[in-house]
Amino acid sequence: ALPILRTVADLRRCVAEWRSRGLTVGLVPTMGALHDGHLSLVRAALDRADRVVATIFVNPTQFGPGEDFSTYPRQETEDTARLADVGCHAVYAPDAGSMYPEGFATRVIVDGVSRGLCGDHRPGHFEGVATVVTKLLLRALPDVAVFGEKDYQQLQVIRRLVADLDIPVDVVGGPTVRAADGLALSSRNAYLSEAERRVAPMLFRVLRETAAVLASGAPAAPMLAEARIRLTAAGFGTIEYLDLRDAETLAALDCAPDDRAGRLLAAVRLGATRLIDNVPVIRS
Ligand code: PAJ
Repeated sequence: ALPILRTVADLRRCVAEWRSRGLTVGLVPTMGALHDGHLSLVRAALDRADRVVATIFVNPTQFGPGEDFSTYPRQETEDTARLADVGCHAVYAPDAGSMYPEGFATRVIVDGVSRGLCGDHRPGHFEGVATVVTKLLLRALPDVAVFGEKDYQQLQVIRRLVADLDIPVDVVGGPTVRAADGLALSSRNAYLSEAERRVAPMLFRVLRETAAVLASGAPAAPMLAEARIRLTAAGFGTIEYLDLRDAETLAALDCAPDDRAGRLLAAVRLGATRLIDNVPVIRS
């Protein structure tokens, strides 16, 4: 069966044993409540490394005061079974005490890409993500680590911190896995009512259709205004942001450039649930 590693020593022993046999190592950090999106990242890691460790840790420092840390779904037994099914080699599931022991005082702050978008609406969130991901990478020291494009800003924050801190790991982005109707899979989709679940796929649809128009080089402002109207009419609540950005730096753009990739990103409320999604914008 799949070994569940609880301590840094166990994790390092496991990785060292693989290394002694010349095997390469992939890491897939998660907070558990695993769905096909997470499992696709494990498969992507298996394509690139001989051994893959998935981590399960609901990281308290990336949740804000009013957010769902205490109610975030925890289902380690099911998660472990799913990971074993796709061929993952080990699970690293540390407890909170070992991640942030008494006296813990260091924070990883990534400027630039962490600002704006989710960074504006979830103060401290990316600091929590950057700190825990740095710790997970340094604990496991994998050859490759895989993160989803679903959390596109997070992926860019991680790319930046790995480059800036000289962490010797290849960061790989995995494409967003969606339900048949287009809704991006997310552990938080479980919070949606039946009626909300029927509205939710409109987010991807509006993003995709808006991206298609922006790909022709049209000015973004009127297209984004129309997209907002469509989302509101569909039944979404507050639109936290809906923005065209540079795909790498996340700098604001007035229209899709012809020499660089753009990205259209959104965060919207649907009832009590916050949904995020994003799509590429490539000049045609
Ligand atoms: P979590 O939300 O559990 O997501 C774990 C990984 O799965 C992230 O890289 C995320 O982008 C990816 N993912 C989520 N939904 C996806 C989908 N539909 N398709 C493809 N990939 C998807 O993101 C986190 O946890 C945490 O912030 C973490 C990086 C683990 C740090 O605590």
